Amino acid sequence: MAKLSIRDLDLTAKRVLIRVDFNVPLSKEGAITDDTRIRETIPTIEYALRRKAKVILAAHLGRPKGKKVDSMSLRPVVARLRMLLDGVLDADENVAFAPDCVGPVAEEMSNNLEPGQTLLLENLRFHSGEEANDPEFARKLAALCDLYVNDAFGAAHRAHASTEGITHFVAQSAAGMLMEKELNYLGKAVSEPFRPFVAIIGGAKVSDKIEVINALLDRVDSLLIGGGMTYTFLNANGQTTGKSLVEMDKLNVAKAAMDKAAERGVKFLLPVDHVLADKFAADARTQVFSGDGPFPEDWMALDIGPATVKLFSEEIAEAATVVWNGPMGVAELPAFAKGTNAIANALARNNDAITIVGGGDSVAALHHSGVADKITHISTGGGASLEFLEGKVLPGVAALTDK
Ligand code: 3PG
Repeated sequence: MAKLSIRDLDLTAKRVLIRVDFNVPLSKEGAITDDTRIRETIPTIEYALRRKAKVILAAHLGRPKGKKVDSMSLRPVVARLRMLLDGVLDADENVAFAPDCVGPVAEEMSNNLEPGQTLLLENLRFHSGEEANDPEFARKLAALCDLYVNDAFGAAHRAHASTEGITHFVAQSAAGMLMEKELNYLGKAVSEPFRPFVAIIGGAKVSDKIEVINALLDRVDSLLIGGGMTYTFLNANGQTTGKSLVEMDKLNVAKAAMDKAAERGVKFLLPVDHVLADKFAADARTQVFSGDGPFPEDWMALDIGPATVKLFSEEIAEAATVVWNGPMGVAELPAFAKGTNAIANALARNNDAITIVGGGDSVAALHHSGVADKITHISTGGGASLEFLEGKVLPGVAALTDK
């Protein structure tokens, strides 16, 4: 990578501010329901602690919009961090929490850190300056540290004070190990894929995914489409789809993507059968519909059907690189999660391929199916991995010091 790595820094006795993505899901009671993002940053934190750095962790949680919202406090993360750092020197006993991410208390706490100690700062987004990338706020964050490391791949597509602005006020800004790992896997998949290269893109809307679809059409051998956006594509092909979700103003865009695939010789696979429901509900009546005729008028498609699962699974089985982002149906309702779970299993069965998965529903399906450990790389970034695959420059990466 052309950017400085944490491995290039002299960390000893330095106050190192590590931007992490601790934007983890919480239950109503405030318990962490999935700590993947925290676990994935432990190698970077451990690396810094073993080199006697004074570690300051900065993160956001949720979207509190510049106000202090108690339910979005990062305080519950302290206990989880202690648990995950158990066995790393005596780091678990040395995690403190700063009740604000900037200002005199945070400054005093960061100044008093000893090498090998960790300080977690309160939610950055309790200050409006974070998302506004306010230079004054960025300067206050920078005042807490000597060196800056960005390990928050999941937030690297945001040009915020803690991901971009701060780099203008510190001597050196480097990538953390999770950041490097993400960029390495995603970068290689896109720029030098083993072929055949198959991408599976799901999700509700063409408008959310059209940029990634167009970017992938320049690189893949096959593109498989699932989820709600299927029905915009089918309508663009002249098929009516009952009450299924359709973006009528995106028919041209969908058609253009299919034309581009044809021009480039990319196999563009749409679902060939569908699980229809008589209402959008867990207890809806269902039927499987196949063929290219009109869907029954009062029914809506909420998942791919078994013939599509077979078709897509065969395509995945032949692939040498697979990138998957987005669900095949309404995966949050068990009755319509079968297609998404089947794709998770199809990826897991292809042991020979490089398999890369991003996006909340797809990753949840891997965990639900118990196959997460069979996947080459599960990205911690939803929006960030999508923007990376779209070919966009991630501001949080661009801002790091060149090597
Ligand atoms: C994410 O959850 O994708 C990242 O933490 C970024 O969060 P955001 O979409 O609220 O900026």
